[in-house]
Amino acid sequence: MRVTIAEINCSALRHNFQKIRQRAEARAIIAIVKANAYGHGMLRCAQIFREEGSEYLGVAFADEGAELRLSGDSGPIVVLSPPLPEEAELFCRYDLDVVACSLPAMRAFSEAARQAGCTLRAHLYIDTGMRRDGIEPSEAVAFMNACSELSNIRFTGVCTHFATSDEADRSFALQQLALFRQTTDELAQAGYRFPLIHAANSGGVINLPNAHFTVVRPGLTLYGYDPSERSEHPEALQPAMALHTRINSIRRVPANTSVSYGRKYRTAKTSWIATIPIGYGDGFTRLLTGRAECLIRGQRFPIVGTICMDQCMVDTGDVAVEPGEEVVLIGRQNNEVISAVDIAATLGTIPYEVISAISARVPRIYVHDEGTSTGLE
Ligand SMILES: Cc1ncc(COP(=O)(O)O)c(C=O)c1O
Repeated sequence: MRVTIAEINCSALRHNFQKIRQRAEARAIIAIVKANAYGHGMLRCAQIFREEGSEYLGVAFADEGAELRLSGDSGPIVVLSPPLPEEAELFCRYDLDVVACSLPAMRAFSEAARQAGCTLRAHLYIDTGMRRDGIEPSEAVAFMNACSELSNIRFTGVCTHFATSDEADRSFALQQLALFRQTTDELAQAGYRFPLIHAANSGGVINLPNAHFTVVRPGLTLYGYDPSERSEHPEALQPAMALHTRINSIRRVPANTSVSYGRKYRTAKTSWIATIPIGYGDGFTRLLTGRAECLIRGQRFPIVGTICMDQCMVDTGDVAVEPGEEVVLIGRQNNEVISAVDIAATLGTIPYEVISAISARVPRIYVHDEGTSTGLE
């Protein structure tokens, strides 16, 4: 078994889910578990969110939905990316909810559902400003008129997606919200009413209470991060992932010794260099070369030299660390913390990318607050 581990705290996942439920005033939740649950392990996270009462699960692609079904999940699963017509059979086989974004796709879905003898649930996707997926608001009624001629499709939902719900300036999000309301009103006047109305991603859940409608669609907050650092409503979320490893080997080197590929780092003085078995093959990106730190014995040390695919090196200076000692790359050790938010800031990216990049090679270990392992995935 590898000593490099992503430790996932199940109690934190449960806590975050319930915080979001409270914040959304008990509305139904589509727990977003795409991209391997933002790196936390899709099947186990899905199971935890279902146990906490998640009415729906949300994924990006049909094969993620199929994987959930094959694992035994029997509740509603919404696939949030626009489907290709040729995926229709997969949606029927695994009983997945589809987002309706194009007529050719919906025709293919209707035909596949007719042949399979099933009825597919669809969510009308309105593009209110993200400019990624969905139907123009001005075309929503005509689109529904065309879809109403299709058999074996039942429209249970209508949705949109925010571009800036995590930003302090709410003006564009409020514009999107107003357009969504206006469109759902026009649809209602034309006789199209939907039991599920959803728009709020994590930013929407936290910052836009008027966007909660009947269902919310949080992702990042479930895993313990607030996408809007300037949020007026800190939700006391708990980051669920810690990334740690153990020292593999150590060597004592003189001053001016170069370390790793390209000899980009040289020791300033006689130092201990510890090698740790984590690298960019684990999702610990090489872009962190010269910019990352880790925790050993509750102290911060620099990761030095070029990050390799499978290893990187730590300069512990005069501290004679030993093979086998724990090294924390994300998480807490004694009073020191390295957060995925800090790493994202260093890289000029967002915590979403840091946590979802932890690769499949890193075993996920599930623990409760007390640190007891609940098994591997
Ligand atoms: C359509 C859709 N809804 C909800 C989410 C969840 O977003 P967040 O992780 O910001 O809560 C995403 C994620 O990107 C998404 O694409």
